[in-house]
Amino acid sequence: MDLRWTEEQEAIRSKVRNFAQTEVADAIPQMEKDDEHSFPAQLIVRMAELGLMGIPIASEWGGAGADFISYIIAIHELSKVSATVGVILSVHTSVGTLPILRHGTEEQRHHYVSKLASGEWLGAFALTEPQAGSDAASIRTAAIREGDGYRLDGAKLFITNAGAANVYLTFAVTDASRGTRGITAFLVDRDTPGFQIGRRERKMGLHGSSTCELLYDGVQRSVDKRLGGEGEGFAIAMGALDGGRIGIGAQALGIAESALALLAAAVKKRSASPPAARAALDELSARVEAARLLVYRAASIRQQGSNCTKEASMAKLFASDTAVQAASAAVRWCGEHGFAKPYTAERLFRDAKVTQIYEGTNEIHRIVIGNQLLR
Ligand code: CAA
Repeated sequence: MDLRWTEEQEAIRSKVRNFAQTEVADAIPQMEKDDEHSFPAQLIVRMAELGLMGIPIASEWGGAGADFISYIIAIHELSKVSATVGVILSVHTSVGTLPILRHGTEEQRHHYVSKLASGEWLGAFALTEPQAGSDAASIRTAAIREGDGYRLDGAKLFITNAGAANVYLTFAVTDASRGTRGITAFLVDRDTPGFQIGRRERKMGLHGSSTCELLYDGVQRSVDKRLGGEGEGFAIAMGALDGGRIGIGAQALGIAESALALLAAAVKKRSASPPAARAALDELSARVEAARLLVYRAASIRQQGSNCTKEASMAKLFASDTAVQAASAAVRWCGEHGFAKPYTAERLFRDAKVTQIYEGTNEIHRIVIGNQLLR
């Protein structure tokens, strides 16, 4: 696979790299500050100014009109410096905005996509519930027909961008007798009566990214706030996650590359480096290169509009395991700069772990890959 970028992709890479190494890097101490973990709202404003909040979305809808690969390049570059900023952009774009562009009516595109893609608004994706993580089909949030629309009741958990987001793509059960075909998607604006942002999670890593529970208590949604038809929600969610998982793969790749660079610097620095440190470097160099190929291959298939379910799962699975291994090796071999704060290795280690868990655990991705192969 050819990993040479077009002029446009190279321009986006260089713009994002420059932004990440200056403004994003400067914001890290504030995001990591004990007990604060402040959401980097100012960076989101800057990303909107730089045209990064809707990279793969046509300019008629407020986006940058670039391709999906450019968007993955942006997440990759951002995550080399801050996986927090990487996940904010990934969730906003892949699962917060693109499904509305793909399944929305003209009116929904005008109202939501143009605000999201320009960065005026931030998006979020509300699928997970307290008892429904890996088994997404067992969600219980209900959308009951009432008058001309629906009444939503229930709760969501671990929702990225919650609090900061203006619109929440929410999945709810409209017909419990139909399993995955009884789930429907709704657009819930932050200020809708009955909708509340609940507890903010304290997390091991990705400090700065906001992860909260959501509460729906008699939330009224008219039919024009339904995304797609009744019963189409599960397929909408899974299709969105195919793209989302490539974003998380790119996030993990960014973490892995930064960890590898720290490891390489540590090995170089010592005149007699332990053989085990050198062996870790050799092994991880190959793994990181393989992760890069898997992530960009999945992105290229997505770009062509072909089914990328298997490739997205492979990319996310392999890149996230590689990120954890690389960050762990950096902590192990960077001496006093490994385990201690505020050095980068320990942050990479904390940030890497969740890439194996969210947007489908790696156990789920093994099943998805196997199922796809056996189809
Ligand atoms: N695209 C479109 N449709 C799809 C699809 C895809 N990738 N995958 C499945 N479907 C459709 C199937 O075709 C099937 O449709 P029909 O009924 O018409 O045949 C339907 O969905 C049901 O498919 P399955 O039988 O495969 O569904 P399942 O109940 O066995 O579940 C699963 C499959 C893969 C385990 C799924 O539950 C899953 O992905 N779980 C993980 C959930 C997840 O990733 N959550 C992430 C939350 S968001 C998050 O973490 C974001 C964040 O904040 C960072």
